[in-house]
Amino acid sequence: MPITAVAGGQWGDEGKGKVVDLLAQSAQVVVRAQGGDNAGHTIVNPAGMFKLRLVPAGIFNPRTLCVIGPGVALNPAGLVAELDALNQRGVNTHKLLVSPRAHLVLPYHRLLDRLEDAVRRGRLGTTGRGIGPAYVDKVSRQGLRAGDLLQPDALEEKLTAVLAQHNPRLQALGGEPLQAPSLLAELLPLAERLKPHLQDPVPHLRRALQAGETVLVEGAQGTLLDLDHGTYPFVTSSSPSIGGLLVGAGLGPSHLRHAVGVFKAYCTRVGEGPMPTELHDATGEALRQRGQEFGTVTGRPRRCGGFDAVAGRYARLVNGCTSLALTRLDVLSGLERLRLATAYELDGERLEEFPPAWEELARCRPVYEELPGWQEDLGGARALDDLPPAAQAYVKRIEELLDCPVGLVGVGEERGAAIALAAPFV
Ligand code: IMP
Repeated sequence: MPITAVAGGQWGDEGKGKVVDLLAQSAQVVVRAQGGDNAGHTIVNPAGMFKLRLVPAGIFNPRTLCVIGPGVALNPAGLVAELDALNQRGVNTHKLLVSPRAHLVLPYHRLLDRLEDAVRRGRLGTTGRGIGPAYVDKVSRQGLRAGDLLQPDALEEKLTAVLAQHNPRLQALGGEPLQAPSLLAELLPLAERLKPHLQDPVPHLRRALQAGETVLVEGAQGTLLDLDHGTYPFVTSSSPSIGGLLVGAGLGPSHLRHAVGVFKAYCTRVGEGPMPTELHDATGEALRQRGQEFGTVTGRPRRCGGFDAVAGRYARLVNGCTSLALTRLDVLSGLERLRLATAYELDGERLEEFPPAWEELARCRPVYEELPGWQEDLGGARALDDLPPAAQAYVKRIEELLDCPVGLVGVGEERGAAIALAAPFV
């Protein structure tokens, strides 16, 4: 059972990039499973700081095979730009395979995403990357897939057919119609550039599993943005939970050994939708500034608040987490008191479970438990005992509330700034 899967436990931006970068050091294969370039994984390693959107974090290890799996929504222009930028900085990207089954995100998806979100009753605040409309095409079985890039003759026909569907909608929303020949002219050089990468990863995955190699499955976004399990409709259009990651990677659950849930030591959310522990006060602002909580993709300020253990317990269940990675504990230094939400109050009643309806969640008031804060800088801590007692107690309490061992505590941006406590981190 050689698979480790890593999912965000909150609303994305939990610091999965760093966790995956760490685990990728000892993985032979890293698979990105869902989402698209709506994700932005920040990685700081000896080669510098990188912001990856589509390329799996294993790319920095020259021996690791990296796979963009069938569940990913692939913007081919974005991928080429990302590969070029990595190559310019000396990163070898030869060992990247792109599944021909991955669906393409094309310019009309991005246009539709922006135009539709602008007129939607109750904006979602999407990243505008075309991810939702691309998954809509996939589900309605008119999507173009990465493998279509290898069939230029059929490509124009498919583009013509899909544009006949989308152009009237684009125009109705005030956009310009797109023409198949000019889209084709944009796509052909991208197809040529991506050709060496467009190979079915299935035989490589089979060989890796048979050889008992470690396969790391990398999630984007987070459980509370999951299309099925998140705060619908304020969600993304894929399944970023562990089950969805395995589907998106094309790997069955019986191969899974470690299901890692990544949680930030506090909560953030970008875009619209309810967030019970959101703070509109000085503490919220302090978290935003200390944590530099601004979106990697859109630059939007993230909404900040305390750790929500009700949502956390729910995410732990949905993902079947075998361990937690608790990131950015260092950001909490300097706060007098820390508040953990252990239950909600809804219309005068105590609620222990994360409610299914966003309207209810929006009315929930967190019931807080207070813990003392600490003043020390945590950046140099490499063992639990290096942490001040209050920080240790905070980690322990989250472990108890989520009923899951903390395998890793993050105390800074760099790869080494972490405390490894349990498998798969030790
Ligand atoms: P979409 O994925 O662009 O359709 O956006 C839907 C919702 O998910 C919006 O609230 C976005 O802000 C949010 N979202 C999408 N990707 C990410 C991410 O990587 N991190 C955090 N939020 C995200």
